[in-house]
Amino acid sequence: MNKIIIKELLENKEVNKEYVISGWVRTKRSSKNIAFVMLNDGSCLKDLQIIIDDLSLIDKYVDRITTGTSISVSGKLIKSEGKGQTVELIVKKLDILGESDSETYPIQPKRHTLDFLRKNAHLRFRTRTYSSIFRIRHGLSFAVHNFFHTNNFYHIHTPIITSADAEGAGEMFKVTTLDLMKPPINKNGDIDYSKDFFEKQVNLTVSGQLEAELAALGLSKVYTFGPTFRAENSNTSRHLAEFWMIEPEVAFSDLTDNINLATQLLKFGCKYVLSNYLEDITFLSDRKYKEEQSFKKELRSKNTLLDSLNNIVNNPFNTISYTEAFDILRNSKPNKKNKFKFPIQDWGVDFQSEHERFLVEKEFNNPVIITDYPKNIKAFYMRLNDDKKTVRAMDVLFPGIGEIIGGSQREERFIDLKNRMQEMSISQKELWWYLETRKFGTVPHSGFGLGFERLVQFVTGMSNIRDVIPFPRYPSHVEF
Ligand code: 4AD
Ligand code: MG
Repeated sequence: MNKIIIKELLENKEVNKEYVISGWVRTKRSSKNIAFVMLNDGSCLKDLQIIIDDLSLIDKYVDRITTGTSISVSGKLIKSEGKGQTVELIVKKLDILGESDSETYPIQPKRHTLDFLRKNAHLRFRTRTYSSIFRIRHGLSFAVHNFFHTNNFYHIHTPIITSADAEGAGEMFKVTTLDLMKPPINKNGDIDYSKDFFEKQVNLTVSGQLEAELAALGLSKVYTFGPTFRAENSNTSRHLAEFWMIEPEVAFSDLTDNINLATQLLKFGCKYVLSNYLEDITFLSDRKYKEEQSFKKELRSKNTLLDSLNNIVNNPFNTISYTEAFDILRNSKPNKKNKFKFPIQDWGVDFQSEHERFLVEKEFNNPVIITDYPKNIKAFYMRLNDDKKTVRAMDVLFPGIGEIIGGSQREERFIDLKNRMQEMSISQKELWWYLETRKFGTVPHSGFGLGFERLVQFVTGMSNIRDVIPFPRYPSHVEF
């Protein structure tokens, strides 16, 4: 018989045929001689209504079928006379695969808080909200590969274990096989990493950029899409200790090319999910709207999720320099009225999320790309401008999210790079291979890092990043 998933069944809707369907019971309504069961298998948002009207099946099974029970049924698909569905399945044969104790099953057919569901992350895939999120997450990941592949980029798998600190920020998780109770000590009294597995100190990568640059300087257009790790103690709704980053790197490309690439990628991703996951997006858009009704007026979003996505696809992004952004912020109402937690006074300060959100949500009401940041607040690899004060950096800021992309044109000039590394105490001995690419056939090149979870957050309208990765890792949390 025709074994099929609910998504395909509902897409084809070929009635008067027999099918085998398996899934988890969402709800059951029953009387003496008929039972209606809503079955979901996660393949799509919609449930399939199944009808049990065979008295022997009712006697044998209906009491044992509760929310969360997994079952497999076979029967005929018919046009539905009832409201809410166009087709339904009349059950001929039924197997209970796994019973579910209705008293203790956490995912009841009622509203649960997201926090409660986070604590039950092993079961939250069964809810409408999370199954929608993870279907969309898949769609976005697919869209990213699709975008790069059709634009002739090559996917490079950069290492997860590395000895480099690509961002120079020192927020790394160490990787070692040494006995932490009695590590070998060298003459200086320090831990002797030459006795460790790799014979040197290594960590989990914070970015695949440096290795992606090496590949771009041979393959021209490459990207990495992998897990990255940051041991920063940020307990915010936008930070994870383990997250996924998309990092394209392009040879013969300057900052303007880089901005165009970032804009195209973001627009493509949003368009792709609007075309292919509209049912899930619409569900999440309604969810967000309902959730926000309990908020104070000023905390509610101006746009629905659907509007925000269409806005990204249809409208241009704004590009301004750091100095322009600085002037706007310094002269802004909240700054003059002392409403910012971090007042904007001196040129050179890093913007905080309150400033980024002011620019995106109040000043421009659309994504903003900020370029040419002061060199002191950016990484060593960014190309120095002629003013010697700023670098060819770009950050893309999104409504409701803040920074979604960080990138730059890279310093391709050997001497300038060497000087910057020295200034910023980046080990040239450690990164000899990075420097060497500037000695042999160096070229202008650019790239950026897109935080995948922040993109999924924007596209699903979820306010907490912990809800858009299956098993979030953040300070004190590594369950599942
Ligand atoms: O701005 P970041 O630190 O840039 C880099 O790592 C560069 N090496 C990228 C490059 O040029 N190839 O990080 C890039 C993006 C941020 O804009 C943000 O979206 C995301 O990565 N990100 C995080 N996402 C979740 N949790 C964290 N702790 C994040 N840190 C950065
Ligand atoms: Mg950044």
